[in-house]
Amino acid sequence: MSITPYIVGNWKMNGTRAMLTEARAIDRAAKRFPGVQVGIAPPFTLIHQLREEVTEIGVGAQDCHVEGSGAFTGDISGPMILDAGADFTIVGHSERRAMHGETDELVRAKAEAAQAAGLGVILCVGETEAERDSGRAEEIVTAQLEGSLPRTERAPYKLSVAYEPVWAIGTGRVPLVSDVGAMHRAIRAKLLEVYGADGAESRILYGGSVNAKNAAELLAADEVGGALVGGASLSAESFAAIMGAAGAGSE
Ligand code: 13P
Repeated sequence: MSITPYIVGNWKMNGTRAMLTEARAIDRAAKRFPGVQVGIAPPFTLIHQLREEVTEIGVGAQDCHVEGSGAFTGDISGPMILDAGADFTIVGHSERRAMHGETDELVRAKAEAAQAAGLGVILCVGETEAERDSGRAEEIVTAQLEGSLPRTERAPYKLSVAYEPVWAIGTGRVPLVSDVGAMHRAIRAKLLEVYGADGAESRILYGGSVNAKNAAELLAADEVGGALVGGASLSAESFAAIMGAAGAGSE
């Protein structure tokens, strides 16, 4: 199966309007790699303006509330994200699971709410270092997926899964390429189990310390359909190098 690689930058809580210059440079770089689908998930505050400034790339949110509107101070809903000009949202990032107590059940509800609003979804899963050391990483990650996957009729469409080992995020450490391949195969098997043949359509992204140097190797691992990039997506130069690695691999 030939798939278009999907390279997404998660800016986390980084970026003021000054970063729109970088976003424009990322957009220009994306034009050089037409075989690669590129997206950026800036903070909520930049979604609208970023959308107005870019033409080649997708724009996403980093989280989405389960309800469409109401008395939820500080939260942002799927319809609002769509209205601001975004096409997708990340849900279930490990930083939200750890720092905001998000459970699999809540992540599933968020994914379903985002899809109901018409947004694409990037659903994140990943094990902690202790879980990796216990030898049970695949079991733990597939259980997380089982609990977090959206289950509505439209669920498999515009759905990507991001495998992000918690211990690899922002640390400069990455798993062995063979371990990435094994985990991605396990994730694919779970998607096929849950969605039947439609489970073959979702791209499975790798995330965690992806950079210009290691991207080609990670993107070549089994069932890796792209990357979710944190730190290295904040500069057009390093992010473009990752697009380039994806573009070369997809030819
Ligand atoms: P880093 O690329 O900075 O390790 O972050 C990965 C990540 O959490 C993307 O969602």
